[in-house]
Amino acid sequence: MTGDWKYGGSFENRARFVYEGYERIKKEINDPNFIVGSKISFWEGFPGGFGSAGPDTAIIDYSEPIALVKGLQERGADFIIVSAGCPSITLALSQPDRRIPDQVYLHHTFQKIVKDNLDPETVVIGSAYSIFRDGKNNLQPRVPESKKSLKYWANKNISENVCDMIAIGRQTLADCYMPKKMKEGREEEINWCTACDNCIELLIQQEAVNCTVHNKEASKRLKDLRKEKGRLRYKLT
Ligand SMILES: Cc1cc2nc3c(=O)[nH]c(=O)nc-3n(C[C@H](O)[C@H](O)[C@H](O)COP(=O)(O)O)c2cc1C
Ligand code: SF4
Repeated sequence: MTGDWKYGGSFENRARFVYEGYERIKKEINDPNFIVGSKISFWEGFPGGFGSAGPDTAIIDYSEPIALVKGLQERGADFIIVSAGCPSITLALSQPDRRIPDQVYLHHTFQKIVKDNLDPETVVIGSAYSIFRDGKNNLQPRVPESKKSLKYWANKNISENVCDMIAIGRQTLADCYMPKKMKEGREEEINWCTACDNCIELLIQQEAVNCTVHNKEASKRLKDLRKEKGRLRYKLT
């Protein structure tokens, strides 16, 4: 939120950065079949981050995130992927991990706010669903697994107009055939993401990224890396 220059300071200046990008893309590629969209962190979750009421406060204020997604729609956004957090500060909000899983529910609120503020034609895509996996997670211990799985929340949120689609991040690394296996009724064969976030450790250390739980090469890469460089103190990008 700081910086008194063309793209800093006021909301108008900060939004200009992405708005100009949209205008350039639309000008260069004059084809209605070429879809354009953005992934937006709706609330970054730290004082002064996007979605807070000012540079020195942690008070939440969604007016700028709402204005931004509406502004993107006006400039031709066909879809918005709704994210949260800032990977270098609040990573566990961007991708809820098994130590702090409960932040995932905030994403549903953000998806709903975006959905309610945009035209029905603009596709709202939810993110951060990997933590739910097959329901074997640390969320709500007294709730049956069938009511806290990825499939349950994806179906529920899409049917209740919270979002139109879901995007899958870490679970794609763990098993890119998950959708196929689900479609074919082979759910017991799915390699589920454990939300350990070891893949992000590989990324932070600038190594080739893959799932260290289900991919032997990646698992060895991580072991060798930790031997050589030690464990990361903070998993922040
Ligand atoms: C290894 C790794 C790399 C990622 N790189 C990006 C990126 O470049 N840009 C981005 O917007 N999100 C990135 N993400 C975040 C994911 O797209 C996704 O928003 C997040 O992991 C939450 O979804 P999930 O619970 O399905 O994993 C990355 C995540 C992981 C694990
Ligand atoms: S390393 Fe594999 S299991 Fe762990 S978070 Fe990444 S994709 Fe999921």
